[in-house]
Amino acid sequence: MTETHTANSITIVDPNEFEASFSERDRFALEVLVGLSESRKRLPSRFMYDDEGSRLFTRITEMDVYYPTECEIETLRRNVDRIVSTVGSEPFNLVEFGPGNGRKARILIEPLLEAGLEFDYVPIDIAREYIDEIVTAFRESYPTLSIKALVSDYFAGLKWLTGQSNRKNIGLFLGSNIGNFSHAEARIFLRNMWSSLNPDDTVIIGFDLKKDIEMLLLAYNDPGGITAEFNLNLLRRINREIGGHFDCAKFRHFGTYDVFSGGMESYLVSKEDQTVAIDGIGRSFSFKAWEPIHTEYSYKYLISDIEQLARDTGFVVKEHLFDSNDWFVDSIWTVHKDGNADGDASAC
Ligand code: TRP
Repeated sequence: MTETHTANSITIVDPNEFEASFSERDRFALEVLVGLSESRKRLPSRFMYDDEGSRLFTRITEMDVYYPTECEIETLRRNVDRIVSTVGSEPFNLVEFGPGNGRKARILIEPLLEAGLEFDYVPIDIAREYIDEIVTAFRESYPTLSIKALVSDYFAGLKWLTGQSNRKNIGLFLGSNIGNFSHAEARIFLRNMWSSLNPDDTVIIGFDLKKDIEMLLLAYNDPGGITAEFNLNLLRRINREIGGHFDCAKFRHFGTYDVFSGGMESYLVSKEDQTVAIDGIGRSFSFKAWEPIHTEYSYKYLISDIEQLARDTGFVVKEHLFDSNDWFVDSIWTVHKDGNADGDASAC
């Protein structure tokens, strides 16, 4: 583990330094091999965000039909005073899981600095590039902000932090990131978060809400085809990085919604019978005409689902913050741990 102290109290901690031998490219190749070998083919959505994918995702967030990003920004802006008052006056860590470009954190950091509160901003991400970018940008925008950036798995980073600081933690898990987990994965994720935090720590979690079906379908099937390009970029990334021979014209994007589970589901569907070689993994994969590859779930929630999820994973809901249309919610929870160190044994 290395700690690098730089000017104006920025600390970069890299708890994963010794695990770097299994490269991101190897991991990608392995997951492509496993996912495309299954009878229900799938590719993990986390690989959508290479440089090209991140650029396309930014364009998605700028489209009128893709409402979640703007809704959450509005939610944070109109409720910023309530968030600042939740924090209290003691020194704390503002821990952000997956900060992206830091656009949302800025909405909170500015008033927190103005209120003269003492805190470290702790962005955690496995991708070094994101962390480097955010540290550089925030160092310039906020010279007085103390940043302790962690290049790490979320929970390894969080455990490291709570092991060396007794401060109260305010965790941010924004966007509709939680929606990209299945319901079972979301419970495991939140229970892991719970066990890595101290009693009375706070988390603020973004959830996209169940809403008009036409609106959902449009958000994930925009008429300009940017979402389709974003999804197809996964095949292009396989071509670029691991020697795939996908012809993107022979696949189409398809986004559909399961009203019961609340799952917005994205697929790439083969338009014809075809066999595609991937040189980097030494295998070919056959696709039947109209056979799908699943690429992403984006679950939408009811407020009652969110409250149940909080209870089941050991949290107490403090407040739900909404945008002006009630399309999105940032839900504020606190960690509940009683005398029993294992908490509620029925969770998960
Ligand atoms: N994860 C984001 C979401 O659930 C990104 C996203 C938007 C997405 N549109 C998509 C992912 C289409 C896959 C396919 O909203």
